[in-house]
Amino acid sequence: MQTVSQLVPLRSAVDTLRQDGPLALVPTMGALHEGHLTLVREARRQAAHVAVSIFVNPRQFGANEDLDAYPRQLARDSALLEAEGVSLLWAPTVEAMYPAGYATNIAVEGVSAGLCGAARPGHFDGVATVVCKLFNQVRPDLALFGEKDWQQLAVIRRMARDLDLTRPVVDRIVGVPTVREADGLAMSSRNAYLTADQRAQAACLPRATRAAITAMQGGATYAAALAALKADLLAGGFASIDYAEVRGADSIALQQGPGDEPGRLFVAARIGSTRLIDNLPV
Ligand code: PAF
Repeated sequence: MQTVSQLVPLRSAVDTLRQDGPLALVPTMGALHEGHLTLVREARRQAAHVAVSIFVNPRQFGANEDLDAYPRQLARDSALLEAEGVSLLWAPTVEAMYPAGYATNIAVEGVSAGLCGAARPGHFDGVATVVCKLFNQVRPDLALFGEKDWQQLAVIRRMARDLDLTRPVVDRIVGVPTVREADGLAMSSRNAYLTADQRAQAACLPRATRAAITAMQGGATYAAALAALKADLLAGGFASIDYAEVRGADSIALQQGPGDEPGRLFVAARIGSTRLIDNLPV
């Protein structure tokens, strides 16, 4: 596995890899877990070579979010990727990604509004901006993202369509289903922040979400099912709920009941100071 941190060697590395066939990109911020490795394995199935980027992107952290506390474990992550047969690790420095004088921001309207976009103002601008840059830097044939961050995936798909990145730059944007622990909790780097008690209580999130979907499918109004979901989370040990809403899977538009567009139930809730998210089809 070749590791590069500057653009010039990146360009020649991707040119060489592409001679063997399709190149897949798995963008990450490091602190890799089984969810990331599932993306890498799927990428290996679909492409001749896999490039993984590790970049803790300052532009997607809010003023009240602790960028410095985000785990950085490059040596450990690099060993995991090497063992998975990754060909290229793109680990740019902040200066390589955002040189002095950098001034461009990408804001994706509509899909970025609401849910995590409301709770974390500017977050999806930062994501869209860095992912657009990663696509232009690596020019992959396909790029893979976890469905746990469904709204992020919708933002990236919209951005790629709107900026004509989909054909000439990245051929396919692939969503990979959420990888879950045995008790149903979605894998996330944030699970590491939970105490043992909080970790046990956190399983209430997927359980209560599934129960709400079953109730909706059984004819309960969305309002009643969502109220019961929130009550279950608070009774199960969650301190507060950022949102529990059904939205269109592509448009991310709010749904009050079944409609033409397939709906997804999105939940974000805090256990202690850790914010967990999940989403499932309704
Ligand atoms: O999901 C993530 O890890 C990040 O938001 C991403 C897509 C790598 C952009 O920094």
